[in-house]
Amino acid sequence: MLQSTLDKDRVHRLHVAVIMDGNGRWAQARGLPRTAGHREGAKAVRSVVEAAPDLGIGTLTLYAFSADNWQRPQPEVRVLMELFERFLHSERDKCIENGVLLNIIGRRDRFEPRLLRAIRRAEAATAAGRTLHLRIAVDYSARQALMDAARLYQSTEAQNADSYSELLNRAINSRPAAPDVDLLIRTSGEQRLSDFLLWECAYAELIFTDCLWPDINGQELERAVEEFHRRERRFGRVVEARELAS
Ligand code: IPE
Ligand code: IPE
Ligand code: MG
Repeated sequence: MLQSTLDKDRVHRLHVAVIMDGNGRWAQARGLPRTAGHREGAKAVRSVVEAAPDLGIGTLTLYAFSADNWQRPQPEVRVLMELFERFLHSERDKCIENGVLLNIIGRRDRFEPRLLRAIRRAEAATAAGRTLHLRIAVDYSARQALMDAARLYQSTEAQNADSYSELLNRAINSRPAAPDVDLLIRTSGEQRLSDFLLWECAYAELIFTDCLWPDINGQELERAVEEFHRRERRFGRVVEARELAS
C-alpha cells in the first residue's frame, strides 16, 4: 500500500520548503561571479539542515535547481551540477551520523551518469535516517510533476486527493512520500513560486524574506518558524468564538 511509505512520526512534524534564491545577487553585490554565490549558498544549506530537527521540522524540501534553470549559461549550470555532486559526497557521512534521510526529488533522466550514481549512493546510504527527511529538488518542475502524476492517476482505482498526493510523491521520486507543506519560505525578496510544489502548498503559510540565500542560517530559519507558529491556519473553516477566547 502506498500509504505505508509514510513515516508516521515524521508526518506529525512540520514540512518546511525553501526556495533558496539570491545567490547571484549576493555575488554581484561583492563584485564576484554568480558562481561564487552558488558556492556560498551550498554552505548555507548545512546550517539550515543542522537547525531543522530542533525546530520541529520533520521534512525539509530545498529548491536547488528548477527545470527552467537549464536555460542558464552552460558554465553556470556546470558549476551548479559540480557543487551538487560535491555536496552529495561531502554531506553523506554527516547525514548518516545525524539521522538525515537524503532524497533528491525531480526528474532524473537529464543528469550525467556520474551524478546519478552519486545520488543513488547517497540515498541508499542515508535511507535509515529518521530525524529529518531532507528533500533537495533538482531538475524539478511542479507542472511537470502534476502532469506525470495525472498520467498515473488515470489507472488508479482510488481516485481522491490523498491517492493523487501519493502518486505525485512517486512521480518526483520522493521516498518516503512527504506530507503537504506547512511553511514555504522564499529568500531574496522575490514573491513568486517559480513552479515549486504547486499542489503541496495548497494551505502552506508563505514567508518572504529579503535575506539572500547565502546569508541564511539556523537563526533565520528559527525566526521564520516562530512567525509560522504565530499565524492562524484555518483551512477554509471559521474559528469558533469559543476557540478564540481560550
Ligand atoms: C538561486 O539563486 C539558485 C538557483 C536558482 C540555482 P539565483 O542564481 O537565482 O540568484 P539570483 O536570483 O540571480 O540572485
Ligand atoms: C527558482 O529561482 C529556482 C530555485 C531557487 C532553485 P529562480 O531564480 O530560477 O526563479 P525566477 O527566475 O526568479 O522565477
Ligand atoms: Mg533567482
